[in-house]
Amino acid sequence: MDRAYAETSLSALVRRVHERADGRGGRYLLGIVGPPGAGKSTLSVRLRNALNVESRIAEIAPMDGYHLTNDVLRAAGSLARKGEPDTFDTAAFLANLRRLRDTPIGEPVPWPTFDRAIDAPVPAGVVFDRQQIVLTEGNYLLLDDVGGREWSAVRKLLDECWYLDVPRKLIEDRLVRRHIRGGRTPSAARVKVRDSDLLNADLIGTTKARADLVLRQQGRRYEVVPRGSTSSRDTSG
Ligand SMILES: Nc1ncnc2c1ncn2[C@@H]1O[C@H](COP(=O)(O)OP(=O)(O)OP(=O)(O)O)[C@@H](O)[C@H]1O
Ligand SMILES: [Mg+2]
Repeated sequence: MDRAYAETSLSALVRRVHERADGRGGRYLLGIVGPPGAGKSTLSVRLRNALNVESRIAEIAPMDGYHLTNDVLRAAGSLARKGEPDTFDTAAFLANLRRLRDTPIGEPVPWPTFDRAIDAPVPAGVVFDRQQIVLTEGNYLLLDDVGGREWSAVRKLLDECWYLDVPRKLIEDRLVRRHIRGGRTPSAARVKVRDSDLLNADLIGTTKARADLVLRQQGRRYEVVPRGSTSSRDTSG
C-alpha cells in the first residue's frame, strides 16, 4: 500500500493538526477547501469535535459567513449567482482572518456564521476566545483574484490548507437534493446545479494542486490522496 494511504483515520488528521499547532505562540489556522457539497462543513465539525475531546481548543470559522446579503446581491443584480466568488465580502473575510492571527488568545474575536434556514449570515455567530486552532472552511480559499476580490491573499494567512475531493456526480446528487430541500422544484434544482454550482466546482477544482493535502471521503474515513492522482472529474464515474 502507498505510504500516503496509511494516514486515513480522523485521529491521524487530528495528530497532524496537533503536531503543527502545538507549541506555537499564536493561533494555528487550517483551511479546509473543496467544491460545494464536498463535505467541508461535515469534516470541520468532526475534526473540531475530535480536537476538543479534552478541552475546547478548536473552533470553526466558516467562509460562508461572508456571503453578501440577499438585499445587497439583489441590488447588484447578482442574487441568482449567489455562491460565486464575487458574491462574498472577501475583504471582510481577510480582515477577520488577520484579526484571528493578530489578537492574543483569550481576547474575543467575533466571527459570522451562515444560517441556511434563513439563507443569511449571522453576525458574531461564533466568538473565538481561548481557541488556539481555527478551522476555516469554504470554497475559495485557494483561488486567484477574481471579480475584483483578493482571494489570493487568503492562503498567506493560513498555516496549511487541505482540499476535500469528491466525485463530481456525488456533488451533483447532493446539491440537487439540498436545493429541493430548500424549496426549489426538482427541475429548478437541477438548473441551479448545472448553471451555477458545478461551474463553481470546476473553478475550485483548478485550485486543488495548491493544497498541502488532498483528502477523499471513504465512508466515515478520509484517505490522503497521493500527489498526481486522478482529479474529481476523472473519478466521477
Ligand atoms: N463523510 C461523509 N459521509 C457521508 N455523507 C457526507 C459526508 N460528508 C458530507 N456528507 C453529506 O454531504 C452533504 C454535503 O456536506 P457538507 O454540507 O458538509 O458539504 P460542504 O462542502 O460544507 O458544502 P457547501 O460548500 O455547500 O457548504 C451533506 O448532506 C452531508 O451530510
Ligand atoms: Mg458547508
